[in-house]
Amino acid sequence: MTGDDQRGESDPGEPVSDDGAVGADSEGSTTARADGGAVDEVALDPWGSSSVSDYRNLFEEFGIEEFDEVLDQVPNPHYLMRRGVIFGHRDYRPVAEALRNDDPAAVLSGFMPTGDPHIGHKLVFDEIVWHQQQGADAYALIADLEANAARGMTWTEIDEHARNYLLSLLALGFDPEEGTLYRQSENRAVQDLAFELGAEANFSEFQAIYGFDGETDVSHMQSVVTQMADILYPQLEEPKPTVIPVGPDQDPHVRLARDLAERMRFFKVSEAYASFELDSLERDLVADFYDRLGPADFDDDSLRCIHVAEAIEETPLEDLDVSADVLSSVLTKLEEAGMEPIRPRTRFFDRRATDAAFDALIDAIEGEKRVYESHVDAFDLDVSEAEELAREVEVETGGYGFQPPSSIYHRFMTGLTGGKMSSSIEASHISLLDEPEEGYDKVKSATTGGRETAEKQRELGGKADECPVYELYAYLLAGDDDEFAKQVYDECVGGDRLCGDCKEQAAQLMREFLADHQEKREEVADLLEAADIELESSRRRN
Ligand code: TRP
Ligand code: SF4
Repeated sequence: MTGDDQRGESDPGEPVSDDGAVGADSEGSTTARADGGAVDEVALDPWGSSSVSDYRNLFEEFGIEEFDEVLDQVPNPHYLMRRGVIFGHRDYRPVAEALRNDDPAAVLSGFMPTGDPHIGHKLVFDEIVWHQQQGADAYALIADLEANAARGMTWTEIDEHARNYLLSLLALGFDPEEGTLYRQSENRAVQDLAFELGAEANFSEFQAIYGFDGETDVSHMQSVVTQMADILYPQLEEPKPTVIPVGPDQDPHVRLARDLAERMRFFKVSEAYASFELDSLERDLVADFYDRLGPADFDDDSLRCIHVAEAIEETPLEDLDVSADVLSSVLTKLEEAGMEPIRPRTRFFDRRATDAAFDALIDAIEGEKRVYESHVDAFDLDVSEAEELAREVEVETGGYGFQPPSSIYHRFMTGLTGGKMSSSIEASHISLLDEPEEGYDKVKSATTGGRETAEKQRELGGKADECPVYELYAYLLAGDDDEFAKQVYDECVGGDRLCGDCKEQAAQLMREFLADHQEKREEVADLLEAADIELESSRRRN
């Protein structure tokens, strides 16, 4: 979930590397923001050390999109979104749209109960709660199978940690009556779905994605399909946009889940021009020539495949923006089709539909259609109408009709001692269970982005962008108050704020936050007892 190694139990002896620091954006926008720090390595490993040093690389290398680009589509964006702490997403638009229109949407994240919940987990708790408040169906799960399989936690430890995560989640505003809580080990529907999804994945794929090898134990692999099932679980009743808020280390899981969701679909909808299949590059070329030839100039049906082939052949190579391979394969297909009319259409390809589903689809298509062995072409439907119809028919005939799940990614917090925040380094993190006074002390001894002397600080300003204390303000202590966060930032970089006072203020706020949070935890204890989740594992032996 938070994917942090803020949680810590990850492989010992990982190199400690710097994380994204917080700061104002270089264009000096009005909101204090968290922008990336210096860089050394990028690796997205759900079970490894999850430090991400260059957030920009995630966009280029992994195709994560910048959250800023969807921000204006989000109703009442959370401060973590406004400040760029939530920096990236995959396919968040459908979720934002559903929230805006009060359409069904869901949010789900999972927590591996390997230690105490800390301020890194709070980011994810907040994200779940915020989506719930915006009207989404909210799900939070305890990844106890994963903790047992991948981290070797005992069931007694798991139960204790699970309870602590849940209390904090509820204390931060999760409504267990509206939302759903479960633990993987007790959710039969998730396990059945996991088994089913496993049929669509194979070992080579796991090897490529996660680096598994011959030594990897089978239950570790099973915890992957279980997570895939978690991610798709909110859609078991009906397909709906679903967002998974996690740290970027979980992105490999999100990508695989999006793939599997797609592979489970009965039909694949695409655009086509004739009875044969074209891949997307081939299709672009044909589409281009179809338009160039001005089909309106031909009488009905008289634009034939062979005409398009001839037109392509007459075009000098340098005017064609395609590789030789694409060109020759398009020409072969067009020439083989010969006198077949070329006409744009929407194709439903039968991927894993039952015969009954395929027949139902044929019946449901309105207007002109042509039925082939394993596809149907519709001439009066555009692609988005066709997508909708395909999903409807799939759901009516016993399929899931999954929408590819979306994700949002938050930055990892820098450790208070510099380097990454890790549960295994006591002073680097603040647990939500720390005594308020202990929290106060940890902030007081944190490293800062301050200069060597007060004089220099006044002259040059502090380095808020590299300061874990500033990060605390931006991620947590300033809460919803953007102006306060910005004030701290501006005063710091302007040389009007000195680290001693700044830390004192942060430390006091932290003490207040912890005292308040722990009081709320006590208040929600009954609510948790009443909630529909097993607090004691049936696998416990003691
Ligand atoms: N693998 C996640 C972690 O390491 C926990 C998890 C399990 C999860 N199922 C999930 C996260 C579903 C998000 C969605 O913390
Ligand atoms: Fe960090 Fe505050 Fe010092 Fe600035 S003044 S460097 S924000 S501790």
